[in-house]
Amino acid sequence: MRALIARFTDAHGAVGVGGGGGTLEVADVPVPEVGAGRLRIAVEAAAVNPVDLFVLAGAPVAGGLVNARPSFGLGWDIAGTVDTVGPGVTAFAPGDQVIGLQDRLDVRTGAQADYVVLDATAVAPAPTGIPVEAAATLPLNALTADQALDVLGALGLTAGSTLLVTGAAGALGGYAVELAAHRGLRVVAVAGAADEAEVRAMGAAFFVERGEELADRVRALVPGGADGALDAAMLRADALDAVRGDGAFASVNAGAAPVPLRGIHVRDVWVRADGARLAELAKLAEDGVLTPRVAGVLPLEQAAEAHARMSEGGVRGRWVLVP
Ligand SMILES: NC(=O)c1ccc[n+]([C@@H]2O[C@H](COP(=O)([O-])OP(=O)(O)OC[C@H]3O[C@@H](n4cnc5c(N)ncnc54)[C@H](OP(=O)(O)O)[C@@H]3O)[C@@H](O)[C@H]2O)c1
Repeated sequence: MRALIARFTDAHGAVGVGGGGGTLEVADVPVPEVGAGRLRIAVEAAAVNPVDLFVLAGAPVAGGLVNARPSFGLGWDIAGTVDTVGPGVTAFAPGDQVIGLQDRLDVRTGAQADYVVLDATAVAPAPTGIPVEAAATLPLNALTADQALDVLGALGLTAGSTLLVTGAAGALGGYAVELAAHRGLRVVAVAGAADEAEVRAMGAAFFVERGEELADRVRALVPGGADGALDAAMLRADALDAVRGDGAFASVNAGAAPVPLRGIHVRDVWVRADGARLAELAKLAEDGVLTPRVAGVLPLEQAAEAHARMSEGGVRGRWVLVP
């Protein structure tokens, strides 16, 4: 089968992360075996996310998150059809339309491939009435937003609390705005002026244009500062400064959490696969609470173009690869 990989070997086969990162390659690899509790999915759509650029850049190895190896599979978000189920899997059967999350950094092949094998607990029924390319944008970013909101909830944010969402027009930020509003939080969305109408339509109660003096602008809307922040744009200390003392702060980038000044409770959030919760999020997409956005669709062989578009910035929604 074909699988998109980031290759880290030189012409002599030596392994290294290299200054310029890896090379993107569609490799011919064996179809993965299905073990107990797992299922194999024939991939129909796989979204490209910042984590794919992170892996291709060699950052997980450079940052000590994983050990070096000749190549890493790419792709976390999957929509497709169950091909085979392993021993012990009763919740799914061949032919089921599903979505799922591949949540490991150190896989030989990922979601951007003809087939992917996942734990059955990482998979959910696909939302009905939503195109497969759009469904493929849900798992990673809707789960991350939801899990970050759970973390903020455990730190005291409840219905009526104000939540700052930076990068609110992005894939993660957009789902965070929608899910936070659905939980009854009053969202202060930070995005570019051109995105104001869209983030307000997603449920933001307040809008702050990105730029200088974020904390002053937020405090003018919410005296004392927001109760919490979900920092999808990695504004770090600038976003923390807009949160009230003893508030809550969710950082979603490894190593980018700000110092917890003024008693603010800062937490790193790293997504984990959760098929049961993903099923609930799929229902929210069916009900129109969540809005999957597709920037464009490309064949697997044109993954480099999707990476280039992502690197340029300004992408709204996700580029989606179809094998
Ligand atoms: N921890 C986890 O498990 C996890 C999971 C998913 C994502 N993430 C991380 O979350 C971050 C967001 O991911 P994403 O997929 O949502 O990326 P995305 O779709 O590219 O969204 C990022 C958004 O932030 C905006 N932005 C950039 N600088 C800004 C600023 N100064 N003020 C306000 N907005 C700004 C971008 O606008 P422009 O495009 O116009 O610059 C874009 O709309 C990434 O760093 C990703 O790695 C972490």
